[in-house]
Amino acid sequence: MTAKRILLGISGGIAAYKGAEVLRALQKRGHEVQVVMTQNATEFVSPLTFAALSHREALVEEFDCPGDPIPHITLGQGCDLFLIAPATANVIGKMAAGIADDLLTSTFIACTAPVMVSPAMNVHMYENAAVQENLETLRRRGVQVIDAASGYQACGDVGAGRFPEPEAIAEAVEEFFARSASAGCLAGKRVLITAGPTVEPIDAVRFISNYSSGKMGYALAAEALARGAEVTLVSGPVALEAPAGAQLVSVKTAREMLAACEERFGDANIFIASAAVADFRPEDPIDRKIKKGSADEGRLKEIRFVENPDILATMGAAKAPGQVVVGFAAETDNVIEYGQGKLASKQADLIVANQVGGGKGFGTDDNQAALITASGVRSLPLMPKSQLASEILDEIEKF
Ligand code: PMT
Repeated sequence: MTAKRILLGISGGIAAYKGAEVLRALQKRGHEVQVVMTQNATEFVSPLTFAALSHREALVEEFDCPGDPIPHITLGQGCDLFLIAPATANVIGKMAAGIADDLLTSTFIACTAPVMVSPAMNVHMYENAAVQENLETLRRRGVQVIDAASGYQACGDVGAGRFPEPEAIAEAVEEFFARSASAGCLAGKRVLITAGPTVEPIDAVRFISNYSSGKMGYALAAEALARGAEVTLVSGPVALEAPAGAQLVSVKTAREMLAACEERFGDANIFIASAAVADFRPEDPIDRKIKKGSADEGRLKEIRFVENPDILATMGAAKAPGQVVVGFAAETDNVIEYGQGKLASKQADLIVANQVGGGKGFGTDDNQAALITASGVRSLPLMPKSQLASEILDEIEKF
C-alpha cells in the first residue's frame, strides 16, 4: 500500500488519549499524519503529545497557522483521508448539521477527501436517537462510519460506544484504501448477472422452485457496481431490493431467464450465472387450478418433467473472444470434482463451486467456495457473500 496523507481529527472525549496510538498505528503502516484537534480535546491530551509523535504542529485554532490564512481549506483539500477518531456526539452532531465553528468542523465542511469517523462515547449517548440519526445522515452522505466497540466504559457503564482498538481503526483505514483502489477498475465494462431461483409452474397456483434467496447474485451486482461496471441483473423472484444503479430484469422461469440473457449477452463483457435455475420443468402446465378429485388430479400425482435449457452452457458456447463467462456449481458432495467438470462442459472461464444443503449456500449470509479455473483451484474460507463477491470479481479481473 502506498503511503497516504491522513488528517487525523481528535475530538474531546476520554478516548482522545488513544488518538496518539491511532497516530502511531497509521505511521507504522507508512502513512503521514497531520493532527487537528478541538479545543475540548486539548483538555484531555496536550497538542504537544501529537506534535512530538507526528513531527508537525497539532492544529487547534483557525488562527494557529500564521503562514496559512485559510487552514481549513488547505487541510481539507491536502489529504487523502480525513479520519476523525475519536468522534464525540457533539462533533458528530455538528458534522451532520453543517456547523463549522472551529478548525476541525470547518475543515470537515471544506474537505474534498473521503471522511471516516470513529464514534466514541458513553453507551446511552451512543444509543441516543439523535446520535444514531446523525450517524445515519453522515453515512448517507458518504462518510465512512467505523462501528463503535462494546464493553466496559471509562464511566463504569457497559455497552456499545467504546473506542475500538487503535490497530482495528488503522486496519479499517487500510481496508478503505484497498476498496478505493479497486473501485472503478470495472469502469466501462458491462456485467450481466443471473440471480435467485427460477419458478416453474405446475398449474395456475402451484410451481416447483428451490431455496435460492438471490443474496449471492445481488452481492455480485453490488460489488460490480462499486467497481464502476454497468450491471444488468436478470433475477428470478426474490425478496431483495436490487442495488441502486443496477438494471433489473425480473423473470420467473428458466426459459424467460434464457431469453433475457440471450438478448443482452452480446453486449456483455462479463457474464456471471449465479442463479439456481431449475434443471427440469413440468412438461404440460395448465392455466387453471387442478382440483383434487377432478379428472386432472393424476397430473398432480405424477408430474412429468422436461429438461430446461442450460443458460450457462448456452452462453459458454456463444462466447466471443474477450468475453468472460463465470458459472457456479452447487453440490452436496464431490464439490471440486463436479465443479471442474462444469468448467469444461459449460465452457466457462471460472466456476465458483460451493457446497449446498444442510444449511449451507442457499439463503445464508455467508458462503464458502472454491474458485476453479483452467489453472487451478483456490479454496476460500467461509465469508460474507459480499466478501465472496469481491473475491470472485478480483479473480475475474485477472482474465
Ligand atoms: O441465492 P442464494 O440464496 O444467495 O444462494 C446462492 C446459491 C447457492 C444459489 C449460489 O451460490 C449458487 O450455487 N448458484 C448456482 C446454483 C445452481 O444452479 O448450480 P448448478 O450446479 O445446478 O448449476 C451450475 C451452473 O449452471 C450455475 O451457474 C447455474 O446458474 C447454471 N445453470 C444451471 C442449470 C440451467 N438450466 N441453466 C444454468 O444456467
